[in-house]
Amino acid sequence: MVTIRIFDTTLRDGEQTPGVNLNVREKVEIAKEIAAIGVDAIEAGFPNSSQGDFSAVLAVARELKGVQVAGLCRAVTGDVQRAWEALRFAEAPLINIVIASSERHMMHKLRMTEHEVVERAVSAIKIAKSYCHDVEFTAEDASRSDKQFLCRLLQKAIAAGATIVNIPDTVGYTTPQEYAALVQYVLNNVSNIEKACLSVHCHNDLGMATANTLSGLTAGARQAEVTVNGLGERAGNASLEEVVMALSTRRNYYNLEHKINTHGIYKLSQLISKYTGMEIAPGKPIVGDNAFRHQSGIHQHGVLTDRETYEIMSAESIGRYQVDSLVLGKLSGRHAFSERLHDLGFHLSPEEVKAAFEQFKVLADRKKDVTVRDIAAILEGRLHDVKPVVELANYQILSANNMNSTATVCLTRGGETLQKAAIAGGPVDAAFKAIDEILGLNLSLESYVIKAVTEGADALGEVTVRVKYGDGVYLGKNVSTDIIKSSIMAYINAINRIYGEMLLN
Ligand code: KIV
Ligand code: ZN
Repeated sequence: MVTIRIFDTTLRDGEQTPGVNLNVREKVEIAKEIAAIGVDAIEAGFPNSSQGDFSAVLAVARELKGVQVAGLCRAVTGDVQRAWEALRFAEAPLINIVIASSERHMMHKLRMTEHEVVERAVSAIKIAKSYCHDVEFTAEDASRSDKQFLCRLLQKAIAAGATIVNIPDTVGYTTPQEYAALVQYVLNNVSNIEKACLSVHCHNDLGMATANTLSGLTAGARQAEVTVNGLGERAGNASLEEVVMALSTRRNYYNLEHKINTHGIYKLSQLISKYTGMEIAPGKPIVGDNAFRHQSGIHQHGVLTDRETYEIMSAESIGRYQVDSLVLGKLSGRHAFSERLHDLGFHLSPEEVKAAFEQFKVLADRKKDVTVRDIAAILEGRLHDVKPVVELANYQILSANNMNSTATVCLTRGGETLQKAAIAGGPVDAAFKAIDEILGLNLSLESYVIKAVTEGADALGEVTVRVKYGDGVYLGKNVSTDIIKSSIMAYINAINRIYGEMLLN
């Protein structure tokens, strides 16, 4: 059976999701988790797009072993050089060069002729080849390009040294049959195609990214470019979990292997959702909350008798656990706690287990039953820890019916204690206003989402905020049984990210 390559672009195309903004440390952590499930390549960013992207690609390239690390660049000398600077310490570097090949893009965006596009592509690939062996060439908007020109361009790219050629459906326009025909056309009409790996990269504007990707693979492409949870520009990219689980679940149909350890999929999906602040829709295939839930009596009965009556894959095969089951109570010991963490796929050092156990004990004092979800929330909450410049010392809220709320907030910053009171329509609003007055930063709240982690009045409340400062949008998160406190802490978490970035620059 043929084994296809999984090229993950969560950190590059996925990070282009509006509202997602990851720092270098987060990108490295995410890259390690993506690598751990067995992807062949990770596209870590677009090094010449910003200093932040450059630093992230550099850090991922330095730290990751056993996986190819890719950086995107335009077919421009400076871009290729910068990509190489960022990738030069990678164990297996891959430079991904992109230039558009459709008439619309060439005419309106690049203002170049076909001849100029070919020249640019060839010259950029040659420069990249002088640095490293593995070079990918991406013909942007390939699915809307003139097929004959596309084949000429790919032929020249391969002759110049490209080892992978990618034919994206950049705008999510194609259909499964049409994309399969394009893949076949390329395989039949690019004379040196056997010297390169043909890659597919599909966007989800018409909800067909997964189907188009699978169709491209069936037609003979050997690499799929995907993102975890389908993150990406506009409606997103083909999702890793959907493509991989389709190949596994319908193995007899597709006859294609991959190297992904599917048991890591659920944890990875949750982790990416937490880091990016992008909630997963309940009905999202494979990883949504409802993907393995059965509502109707007939279905429940069927599943109890034989799971396969209504389940085409098992929750365990993607590492999902019984999220609502009770696990621990107030009197549980550290050993039981640590075992449960292990079952959940968290591999923590003894010090980390100790710190999480202390948080668990505080929670178990307030909450009768602590579930797996609560524990996961405790651990995931810590993902968002950043070195605090500002810390909450105290707060007081006065809130009443038909009256404004008053918040007094006391913060510490570098040994200084700062306090202010503010009035607003609601308690959270008033607290944020008091913080703004203390710090004097010009912030605007882009979004505020509160969600119960589990059921019941004593459930943990998870608050996610997005705060705009200058040109950037910063995510803040916190989890607590007290929703005013988690709101204030999430806001401070976002502010500490802003300070963190200020210190870096
Ligand atoms: O969708 C696309 O065409 C891309 C390229 C820039 C690789 O993401
Ligand atoms: Zn894309």
